[in-house]
Amino acid sequence: MSLPDNVKIVEVGARDGLQNESVPLSIEVKIELIERLADAGLSVVEATSFVSPKWVPQMAGSAEVFKGINRASNTNYPVLVPNLKGLEAALECGVDEIAVFAAASESFSQKNINCSIAESIHRYTEVIEKALAEKLKVRAYVSCVLGCPYEGDISLNKVAEVSRHLSDLGCYEVSLGDTIGVGTPLKAQKMIEEVSKYVPTQQLAAHFHDTYGQALANIFAVLQVGVSTIDSSVSGLGGCPYAKGATGNVATEDVVYMLNGMGIETGIDLGKLLDAGHFISKQLGRKPNSHLGLTKADF
Ligand code: HMG
Ligand code: MG
Repeated sequence: MSLPDNVKIVEVGARDGLQNESVPLSIEVKIELIERLADAGLSVVEATSFVSPKWVPQMAGSAEVFKGINRASNTNYPVLVPNLKGLEAALECGVDEIAVFAAASESFSQKNINCSIAESIHRYTEVIEKALAEKLKVRAYVSCVLGCPYEGDISLNKVAEVSRHLSDLGCYEVSLGDTIGVGTPLKAQKMIEEVSKYVPTQQLAAHFHDTYGQALANIFAVLQVGVSTIDSSVSGLGGCPYAKGATGNVATEDVVYMLNGMGIETGIDLGKLLDAGHFISKQLGRKPNSHLGLTKADF
């Protein structure tokens, strides 16, 4: 069995996590969370999204959040952008990296961003061109790669096609999202193998939600077929407002624990990460939602 020596973790809690929370959090709390995550050694901390506040009210105030971060020199802070309006707002704040987000399911695309997959690719073509011209890095997400809340099974050809389009447009990484957490390990491996025919595996990231408790097993499975970038969310925060019933992303604490146990480097300080998880859980008035965060162990 072959496993990578190093794994890059893309921490999505401050965006994928907080976009789905009903407890309102202050700008200061969001900033503190982001700064704690960077201080824990995370090299990528997705900070917020520049989407319509009519669609996702939890992400209102993204400009204040982004501008308020005391940015660490060794951390990237991508922000989610759905259109040119979002890109303009992000540029105004001095972002270095954006992420665009398409879907492999027509119905999810309509529900999430109010357009077809083809229209979204057309829209992102302009966004990516402008972002690259402004010297930004561009990441891409493809949602519903292992199933859709509206359509059920999704064809792997479609997942591969959308991924290839986004990669061809200049996205340096394509994150494959199991938005509703229905995937299981062998299906996840098969999906990666299919997409890898069109996009090099080193440019793929895996983004698992843990709705059915499969996320760590899925991560272990995709590491074995060459994936070495994993999205996760501190304290298992998360979900998508347009994917009802989907729970949070796999908890970063649990991913780091698993990787540490296999001798795979992440550069993350688990103690500081756990503190960040406790901090945000307290702000949300609940217990941490990572297995590790619920133990009394000291790391
Ligand atoms: P629309 O209604 O078709 O767009 O929404 P519109 O252009 O008609 O605009 C509607 C209103 O929003 C207008 O305001 C615009 O100005 C405003 P009004 O004139 O009515 O006052 N607006 C904006 N405001 C701020 N920033 C913007 C922006 N754009 C328009 N960028 C739109 C289309 C794409 C805007 C909308 O559907 C949207 O914002 N969707 C975002 C949904 C979202 O954020 N979902 C969660 C993220 S995806 C996810 O979580 C999955 C992922 O984690 C991977 C996985 O798990 O699979 C990434
Ligand atoms: Mg997600």
